Amino acid sequence: MTDKIILTGIKPTGTPHLGNYVGALKPLIEMANENKTFIFIADLHALNTMKNPSDIRLHTYEIAAMMIALGLNLNNAVLFRQSDILPIYQLSNFLMNVTPKGLMNRAHSYKAMVEKNTDAGIDVDSGVNMGLYTYPILMAADILLYDSDIVPVGADQKQHVEFARDIAGYFNNTYGETFKMPEPVIGKINGIIPGLDGRKMSKSYDNTIPVFAPESELKKKIMRIITDSKLPEEPKDPDTSTIFQLYQHFASESEINDLREKFVRGGMGYGDAKKILFEKINSVLAESREKYNYLMSHTDEIDKILSDGAARANAVAEKTIARVKKAMLG
Ligand code: TRP
Repeated sequence: MTDKIILTGIKPTGTPHLGNYVGALKPLIEMANENKTFIFIADLHALNTMKNPSDIRLHTYEIAAMMIALGLNLNNAVLFRQSDILPIYQLSNFLMNVTPKGLMNRAHSYKAMVEKNTDAGIDVDSGVNMGLYTYPILMAADILLYDSDIVPVGADQKQHVEFARDIAGYFNNTYGETFKMPEPVIGKINGIIPGLDGRKMSKSYDNTIPVFAPESELKKKIMRIITDSKLPEEPKDPDTSTIFQLYQHFASESEINDLREKFVRGGMGYGDAKKILFEKINSVLAESREKYNYLMSHTDEIDKILSDGAARANAVAEKTIARVKKAMLG
């Protein structure tokens, strides 16, 4: 436990899958249970792409229910919806005035759109809304609002945390020391988490296994994992096998060694390996899945937890806004 403040946001753009679980959610919960942590569902950040309110609502509940079901300690962690914090709208507006437009032009996701449009020979800003363009400012506001020290994110978000530092620096230079400098912490897991087809598990490849899929669906998905065509008696390479890669993230050291043995020795068919994988994942997740299902059918309980979190987050945020207003407006 440090006295550092940890903060991260999770965008409610899809049902969390095993890749999210292993790569982000599980390590985040471990970190959150030992430190003072703010975790919010970044529903405002979803708005630039997601136009269906019921999707945002569903995925917000899914993420919250999942964090709770997986054992997030709510005495330590403050779990809330971004849109419940009025100071976030205020701070992002204030930060607009110290953020150079050129900085936004350099943001990876905006640049990617510009490049795509350029290649297609259409207007560079085609399909770019201001939510996308100013996304890094809203994210800087998220980070700076709670005096965060450490921001755990995926590698794709590193630039955004660096922008938050830049923006904090511009602000502090203009108005005096107001914001702390946050540090990005990039999650490092060993290897990629492969999806059903062996490529990285990702919603955009349509190869995911939802964390809390019902048992029968979990089994069906695992049985569909693509393998090579080695016969049961043949030795197999664990290190290129999706089954084995996934197993490593759920099993104990000795179980992993056992399965490796079975791959290398030959005599085990892929069907049997899949059954072992299914049993393992299912047993690790079964208890949390029950809790998750309970919460998803009692969303009023999730609402209560999120609004408690919002009250705690707002108390901190309002102090920051008072400080910012004083610095900028006197
Ligand atoms: N942009 C992040 C993502 O897409 C989510 C996010 C929003 C976030 N605000 C944040 C992450 C603040 C860390 C800190 O994953």
